[in-house]
Amino acid sequence: MMSKVEAAKEISELSEKIRYHNRKYYMEHTSEISDYEFDKMLERLLALEAEFPDLKEKNSPTQRVGGTISKEFPTVAHRYPMLSLSNSYSETDISDFDVRLRKVLAKAENENDFDYICEMKFDGVAISLHYENGSLLRAVTRGDGIQGDEITANVRTIRSVPLKITGANIPDYFEVRGEIFLPRKAFERRNQEIQKENEQRKAEGKKQLTLLANPRNAASGTVKMQDSSVVAQRRLDCFVYDMYAENMTFETHAQVLESLTAWGFKVSETYENCKTLDDIFAYIKKWDEKRHSLPLDTDGVVIKVNQLELRPLLGATAKSPRWAVAYKYKTESKTTILQKVEFQVGRTGAVTPVAYLKPVQIAGTTVKRASLHNQDEIERLDLHLGDLVSIEKGGEIIPKVTGVVAEGRKDSAQKVAFITHCPECGTALVRPEGEAAHYCPNEKGCPPQIKGRIEHFISRGAMDIDSIGSKTIALFYAQGWLNTVADLYELEGERILKLPNFKEKSVQNILEGIEVSKKRSFKNLLFGLGIRYVGKTVAEKLALHFKSMEKLKQASFEELIAVPEIGERIAQSLLDYFADADNRELLERLQARGLPFELLESEIPTTSGALSGKSFVISGTYENYERDELKDLIKQLGGRVVSAISGKVDYLLAGDKAGGSKLEKAEKLGVKILSEEEFENLKA
Ligand code: IVH
Repeated sequence: MMSKVEAAKEISELSEKIRYHNRKYYMEHTSEISDYEFDKMLERLLALEAEFPDLKEKNSPTQRVGGTISKEFPTVAHRYPMLSLSNSYSETDISDFDVRLRKVLAKAENENDFDYICEMKFDGVAISLHYENGSLLRAVTRGDGIQGDEITANVRTIRSVPLKITGANIPDYFEVRGEIFLPRKAFERRNQEIQKENEQRKAEGKKQLTLLANPRNAASGTVKMQDSSVVAQRRLDCFVYDMYAENMTFETHAQVLESLTAWGFKVSETYENCKTLDDIFAYIKKWDEKRHSLPLDTDGVVIKVNQLELRPLLGATAKSPRWAVAYKYKTESKTTILQKVEFQVGRTGAVTPVAYLKPVQIAGTTVKRASLHNQDEIERLDLHLGDLVSIEKGGEIIPKVTGVVAEGRKDSAQKVAFITHCPECGTALVRPEGEAAHYCPNEKGCPPQIKGRIEHFISRGAMDIDSIGSKTIALFYAQGWLNTVADLYELEGERILKLPNFKEKSVQNILEGIEVSKKRSFKNLLFGLGIRYVGKTVAEKLALHFKSMEKLKQASFEELIAVPEIGERIAQSLLDYFADADNRELLERLQARGLPFELLESEIPTTSGALSGKSFVISGTYENYERDELKDLIKQLGGRVVSAISGKVDYLLAGDKAGGSKLEKAEKLGVKILSEEEFENLKA
């Protein structure tokens, strides 16, 4: 058996080596050892940490593979607010910015000249990384700029975020700001994986996974995943571009970027020093096309005053600093041929015209379809089949048709007309007054509306039944088995088994998934019913207020609008829903099958609780509670738990062995410190 001292020595040596090779590989793109040798070292370290758990360091390189499950991400107040940038779109805007700066500085009687640093504007998720004594302490999302979510375990898996840093002039405590992104390659690879997995799922009759819309959304979804080992597999990356510390010794932003690089952070090499406006314009021009060859999406350039001492003089508005501005590149536009227009009917019966195009490449992706919004839009464009149309792809996922090049249109070209009848069920469409959209009013008989309601019912946030997907729903609908959501609970395994491609196992899986959904909350059910205007938040408000379907059903118009945030439109929609005989029958069937028609006692937060509106930081250990119990209790009583002390926190709950730095900080900021006993009194 190895002694603890020996183990400690080996752990420290191995960690050091792994860190070194990690850095070589991920930052310098070279490697001195084979993947195999690297994996062996990591395996050995994992084994040692498993054998000697108390020797495991919080920032051990094994954290890169993840494994932490975060049920929720604690809210943390930012020490320095995370602002955004004001945007500019032209050379004039930029020169106005420059003039403004010079005016403010002249007023402040500042004689110093200054220059700029231009950087690319990375299209990802902003992150704040806190380091204490050279070690990553926590990582916090931007949130609303004032407070964000602590996602440290997930960020530890990002290889280019150093867990430990060494070098000269590292402050004891500092914050680095940067952008987490999913490299375009990793994004494409993940979508290929999803497609493959979907083929498998199809064979098993499971719900299809949706493809990632774009790298930015993918990155923001990934950083908030609960299982950090999944995050580790996604290969996120991170560029840093800013730093905050109490007593900064740097004079320029360029020095900050150089030091960050030297300390082991990943700084994009695209930044440049620009002395004049012309230098800035040249930088912007140079990167206009070239940026598409970078490994990640960028949507502009950030222009920053290089001299740090000028930043406080220039200050900031509530939203953005005055010492920096973003230049946004124009959304890319291309022209292509309109081949046909089709009309899609959605879950709510809304009809959307979709343009089918001759495929074109825009901003790195192939575009074949674009939204045409509504009748007014088609008429505004005076659209004809075969037209040459301009397509734009902005930040949105779905590209837009923005204009028509009418020249060259043949006389015989057919004008695009909005349909008068539903393409799915033939019912005459209606356009409600004051709305731009057309609807198919045949709610109960129109196939996409019937299937759409069931799809909505099983979706995430609603009943979350992932053992079936839209294909299975369509199939069962075609068999005549599935017309309402209540039919889901009466599906017969025997019959499904007779369909081709359904094996015992997949049928069992489908039925189990449906059965389990009976355990969801009343809130989910209410949202899942798809009552018009009753989205997730409204459903939650209604559930918390009325607590049961019965009470909600009996509520009058006046009682409904008396609920905060429930307006007349929602109230009327609810009354209409419950007045409908088919809906009432549907609810009876659902209730008979044991679906949740009431809110459970445990789901009702006591807003009148003794701790209502108060925020707590928990530190140390407790005699009467596990930490999670304590958290739940505080929430139950209406309080909030955050992870870091700031001036906004009401109490530091200091148990046994509470952190010294937390205590110190609480004292400094005047945050009340409570012992376990005092807490007991407070909540009583
Ligand atoms: S500096 C006051 N530099 O853009 C904010 N931001 O609109 C100073 N961003 O929240 C930020 N690339 O998430 C800075 N090179 C860059 C950036 C960058 C992307 C993001 C960042 C920020 C947003 C502001």
